[in-house]
Amino acid sequence: MSASDTAPARHVLVAVAWPYANGLSHLGHIAGCYLPADIFARFHRIGGNRVLMVSGTDAHGTPITVKADQEGVEPAEIVNRYNPKFHEQWERLGISFDLFTTTMTDNHREVTWELFRALHANGYIDTKTTEQFYDPEAQRFLPDRYVEGTCPHCGYTEARGDQCENCGKTLDPIDLIEPRSKFTGATPVPRETEHYFILLPKLQEELLTWLESRQGWRGHVINWALGFVREGLIDRAITRDLAWGVPLPPELDISTPASEKRIYVWFEAVIGYLSASKEWAQRSGDPDAWKAWWLDPAAESYYFIGKDNIPFHAVFWPTYLLGASTDGEPPLNLPTNVPANQYVTFRGAKASKSRGVGKSLLDYLDDYQPDELRYALATILPEYNDTDLAEEELVRRINGELVAAWGNLVNRVLAMTRKNFDGVVPEPGELDERDRQILATVDRHLAAEAELLEQVELRRALKEALAATQEVNAYLNATEPWKTAKTDRERTATTLWTALQAISGCNLAFAPYTPFAAATVSGWLGHDPDLDGTGWTRREVAAGTTLGTPSPLFRKIEPTDDAATS
Ligand code: MF3
Ligand code: ZN
Repeated sequence: MSASDTAPARHVLVAVAWPYANGLSHLGHIAGCYLPADIFARFHRIGGNRVLMVSGTDAHGTPITVKADQEGVEPAEIVNRYNPKFHEQWERLGISFDLFTTTMTDNHREVTWELFRALHANGYIDTKTTEQFYDPEAQRFLPDRYVEGTCPHCGYTEARGDQCENCGKTLDPIDLIEPRSKFTGATPVPRETEHYFILLPKLQEELLTWLESRQGWRGHVINWALGFVREGLIDRAITRDLAWGVPLPPELDISTPASEKRIYVWFEAVIGYLSASKEWAQRSGDPDAWKAWWLDPAAESYYFIGKDNIPFHAVFWPTYLLGASTDGEPPLNLPTNVPANQYVTFRGAKASKSRGVGKSLLDYLDDYQPDELRYALATILPEYNDTDLAEEELVRRINGELVAAWGNLVNRVLAMTRKNFDGVVPEPGELDERDRQILATVDRHLAAEAELLEQVELRRALKEALAATQEVNAYLNATEPWKTAKTDRERTATTLWTALQAISGCNLAFAPYTPFAAATVSGWLGHDPDLDGTGWTRREVAAGTTLGTPSPLFRKIEPTDDAATS
């Protein structure tokens, strides 16, 4: 019986941070949010839940225009160049988005306008004249990343105008100490300009009440969010003097001939989760299908992000949702959880696209199988602490754990069944204590893993899968079917039958992490390679099944000079 027969399917929105379209991902990003999101999504799909996993390229804002300026091309060209590469990346690594779109769509503009208008009509958005930095040499305003300088909070000297990478605080460029223009290096001067602001203090109480009632959030996420809100929210500008971005709703446009205004990227990008859900529904042929994830209070939503994105997902996005609800109507669903990860560093240096540390994911995929990379990264997910990554560590995990404990186990047992029973699952005799024990042990690890996966403890959950596999290896070492094959055919049949059942369980345990191998093994065991909806329970490998012909599941990595010295 599959899980969907016993419990109603849950609706689970897996919302994943939108990568800027100005460069490719590297392992830090992958371990930061894309891989965890995918593991979580696959776990729920296997269990029979309705998963909607969305993201897309973040097309706007100064990260894109700065790059376009450097190359002397249009910003849209940058987006159009990188967007297909992201699709290639997800395909090759097995990141299973239901939709990976961009914020450059008409649909996204419409949905952004809807939210903007609702917040405006509800009195949470208003115009104000403020001072922004202006470059007197380039004769233009300098929003966000066009200014760099020293962080007023922590003294980091390379802070960008929108956010300090060092302390994570969001910044207003005007507050930077010793500011410099990214265009000319000139010292910018303040100049008056009119912008829309979101009046966050008006929503502070409601947001705080909501945040204080969150349960099961990671300590570093909830504590950061609570601390930030308790310090007091301030009105935040949500437009910029920039010609690239989502324009304002026509009836609310305050652009001037001297300066075009666009909606601030951080205001509209988070709306992407909603607009992508709607786009997915449209494409699926049922334009209302998104509502099951956004309107039903029983639906769940998980936002997979890096820690620098916490303010936008745990604070600002929920306030937009709260503020946009029409009187008397409940808001659209707020995040169930925001399991933000810390950083992956490479020998101490934070991996960051804008600073260019680390090889790209596509480079790694030329040297590693996707499952190998997924497994190795999953063992070091930075769920609680910044995690330093060395390539030798990846190799050690792959060779010593994935290949040695899991890949070899599958091959040994299938090869022995081939040799002794012509590759057909033998009918077992009566199970003894050891046989029953190992199956109970595998099932116990599966249950423990499921509990950890529910809590988004993906790194610890994977340990359960590995532990189950090591137990099965120990079981084989104790029962020695290669020896009993010469003396006791029935005992050998029972041992191999038991080992095959245990392997079926281990395969499920690994499936969210190593989906390519899981489909292969599932097929070898005579099951449907597609595990979605089959339920989180070990499936029986029926006696009489003809097993597939095994080939090595993984490849041992020979440490290259590159790996040894990089
Ligand atoms: N582009 C942003 C980044 O890479 C992430 C945006 S997540 C979003 O940090 F939801 F705001 F788009
Ligand atoms: Zn700082």
